[in-house]
Amino acid sequence: MSRILTGIQSTGIPHLGNILGAIQPAIEMADSGDNDAFLFIADFHSLTTIKDAEIRSENVRAVAAAWLAFGLDTEKHTFYRQSDIPEVAEFTWYLSCFTPFPMLANAHSFKDKSDRLSDVNAGLFTYPVLMASDIMMYDADFVPVGKDQMQHLEMTRDIGGSINHTIGKDVLIIPEAKIKENTKLVPGIDGQKMSKSYGNDINIFEPDKKLRKRIMKIITDSKGVEESKDPDSCNVYNIYKLLATSEQDAKMRKNYTDGGYGYGHAKQELFELIIDKFAKERSAYNKLIDNPEKIEKELEKGAEKARLVAQKVLSRVRRELGYN
Ligand code: ADP
Ligand code: TRP
Repeated sequence: MSRILTGIQSTGIPHLGNILGAIQPAIEMADSGDNDAFLFIADFHSLTTIKDAEIRSENVRAVAAAWLAFGLDTEKHTFYRQSDIPEVAEFTWYLSCFTPFPMLANAHSFKDKSDRLSDVNAGLFTYPVLMASDIMMYDADFVPVGKDQMQHLEMTRDIGGSINHTIGKDVLIIPEAKIKENTKLVPGIDGQKMSKSYGNDINIFEPDKKLRKRIMKIITDSKGVEESKDPDSCNVYNIYKLLATSEQDAKMRKNYTDGGYGYGHAKQELFELIIDKFAKERSAYNKLIDNPEKIEKELEKGAEKARLVAQKVLSRVRRELGYN
C-alpha cells in the first residue's frame, strides 16, 4: 500500500483547469488500488498572497466544496485543512535548518512570483520548506503534482535526504513526484493556460446565466458563420474536446470544417455540455456552500485522522534531534 498526498492552495474557487488537471485525477488516483490518500487544503500557503481572513476562509470552503462535490470519499481518505494541524509549522522549522539558502534562492517559482507580485515576503521565499513539511510529516510515498511543482518536490527530497544523512538513519520517507504528464492543460477563455491569476478562468459552479455569459466571452477569430473553420486553433473547441465523448468530438470537428456553423453555436454547445456533464457536481457544490457546517464537520473529521500521523512523525523527528 502506498500513501498518496497532494495539496491545493485556497486561492479562489476551483476553475475548470483545477478540476480537470488536479481534482479529478487526484480522486481517481486515490481510489485506484489500495492506496491511502491524504488530500488537503493548503491554507497556510495561501497566506503568502491572501491577507484577508474572510476571503481566505471563503476560499477554503470553496475548495473543500469542490473536492467533496467531485466525490472525494472522506471515509476512505484523509481530507483536511493544513492549518488544523499547526504542528506543520514546528516541523517546517526543523526542515528549514537543513535547507541550504542557495537552494531556495534558485527556486523558479520564487523568482517568478517575486517578479510579478508587489508583496515579496519571506513566506514566499520559504514556501518550498512548508511544502516539504506537508509531504514528509505524513510519510507520503507519492505526490501527484503538475510540472510547475517538480522543483519543489526535488527540494523536498533533498531536505529529507539531508536530515536522514545527518541523523544517520531513515527517519523521513523520501517521496516521489507523480508528474501528471498527460494531464490536460486546460486553456482559458483567451487560449492561454487557464489560471486564476490570468483572469481567464471558467467557474463551472456559477449559475447558468453567468456561466453562459462567460462562455460567450471565449475569444475566437472573426470568421463568419458560413466559412469553414479550423477546430484545432479554436479556443472553444480546445475546451470542448476535453469534455466531449469521441462521438461528440467527431461531430463538433465536422461542424467546424463543414462551415455553416458559427462560433456562437459552438459556444452554446460547450455551455450545454458543461451543464449536462457536471449537473450532479454543480448541484452538490452549491448545496455544500449553503451548508458550511457540513464542510466544517468533514474538515474536522479529516484533521483528527491527519493529526495522529503528524504527531507520530513529528515525535520521531523530535527524538532524533534531541527535543524530547
Ligand atoms: P491557478 O493557476 O489557477 O492559480 P493553481 O496554481 O492553484 O492554479 O493550481 C492548482 C492545481 O491545478 C495544480 O495541480 C495545477 O497543476 C492544476 N491546474 C491549474 N491550472 C490548470 C490548467 N489550466 N490546466 C490543467 N491543470 C491546471
Ligand atoms: N504548492 C502547491 C501548488 O501550488 C500546493 C501544495 C502545498 C502542495 N503543499 C503541497 C502540493 C504538498 C503537493 C504536496 O499547487
